[in-house]
Amino acid sequence: MIKILFTILLFSFAALQARPGSLEEISRAIYALQKDTSVAEMLRIVSFIETDLHTYIAKKRYYLPTELTTLPCAIEYDPVTESCFIHLETKKKNTIGSGGEKYVTKSIFYKGTASEIVARCKQTAKGSSEIEIIRHLQGLEGIVSMYAATRYMESSRPVETLFCKWYKPGALGGVGGCLNHGMQFTLPEKVGIACDLLVGLENIHAHGVLHGDITAANCFVHISKDPITNGRKIEAVIGDFGKSRWGQEITPDLYASDIFDMGCALYKLYYNKTVPWQSEEYLAGFAGSPAAVIEAIVKKRRDEILNKKSKTNTLSIEEEFELTILYMLHEDHAKRPDSTILKNNFIVLSNKLRG
Ligand SMILES: Nc1ncnc2c1ncn2[C@@H]1O[C@H](COP(=O)(O)OP(=O)(O)O)[C@@H](O)[C@H]1O
Ligand SMILES: [Mg+2]
Repeated sequence: MIKILFTILLFSFAALQARPGSLEEISRAIYALQKDTSVAEMLRIVSFIETDLHTYIAKKRYYLPTELTTLPCAIEYDPVTESCFIHLETKKKNTIGSGGEKYVTKSIFYKGTASEIVARCKQTAKGSSEIEIIRHLQGLEGIVSMYAATRYMESSRPVETLFCKWYKPGALGGVGGCLNHGMQFTLPEKVGIACDLLVGLENIHAHGVLHGDITAANCFVHISKDPITNGRKIEAVIGDFGKSRWGQEITPDLYASDIFDMGCALYKLYYNKTVPWQSEEYLAGFAGSPAAVIEAIVKKRRDEILNKKSKTNTLSIEEEFELTILYMLHEDHAKRPDSTILKNNFIVLSNKLRG
């Protein structure tokens, strides 16, 4: 009996000793994620979250600016998911990106010693259904991962924020995008990215959602190290649902416009250049309408590849990849394949590459 009691005592003492996440340990773990805020300052923040935050939550105060708490960072709480965030937006280098609507900065998703840096996308609310739509699509492959969303008032204006997984290096295209910063992808990587994005688009359309703003700047990539091959592992997702619609009658023409836009994003990925009808240099020297440019370029190249196919009966994987993109850009929207057919096409290409 005494032996058992002693063992229990010993175990509980050991558990106490090994308890991860003393305030000090948490502060160090968060400091390791970012070096702006010192361990001592982080300790103040962590102590606040662990001891005082609940009194604000009880009063339904969820957005706590620095003036209110005198802490070095603003604190935000989402009562729906019961998650807490420490903002890092004060320093310019903590900016992740920005588009027409949102300002995206790094934020710490507070989870004790398992805290992580996430992307905080802040925008002035204009009644878009972005949060509802992303929530509706959560957990599906190829869709941006959202951890929490909040709404609060700032200078008497409603603000909406989305806390998402931080995709690194981030957008595929756009000013800060990796393709515009000299990042190179191999053919299998490009096919893999296309597969991921088409899986995402298929999921979006299958759930009755029209994305409405597919661009390379709204496709995010995350590159990590593959623990098995030691090579790089790439995940691609569709983000920015700020112009998305659902619940209304979405006609096949509208879905086909998402396909066309994805075709433009994949064109950028494949050729490493913007589609001509969106590039200013080209349009400056071309008198025709965008439709005429599409006709002249897309149709011409598609016919070339199709001709070769009918003569030789074989196409290289590159040509098949190109042909699929050129079909997505078909002038006649009824001839653009749907996202399921496209996804399957890219899966076949990916399997061929694996041999
Ligand atoms: N979760 C994220 N991970 C990495 N980068 C992101 C993330 N969310 C947004 N970004 C970057 O911020 C930019 C703007 O975000 P986005 O959601 O597209 O807003 P906007 O409506 O302003 O276009 C993106 O193009 C991308 O570069
Ligand atoms: Mg965007």
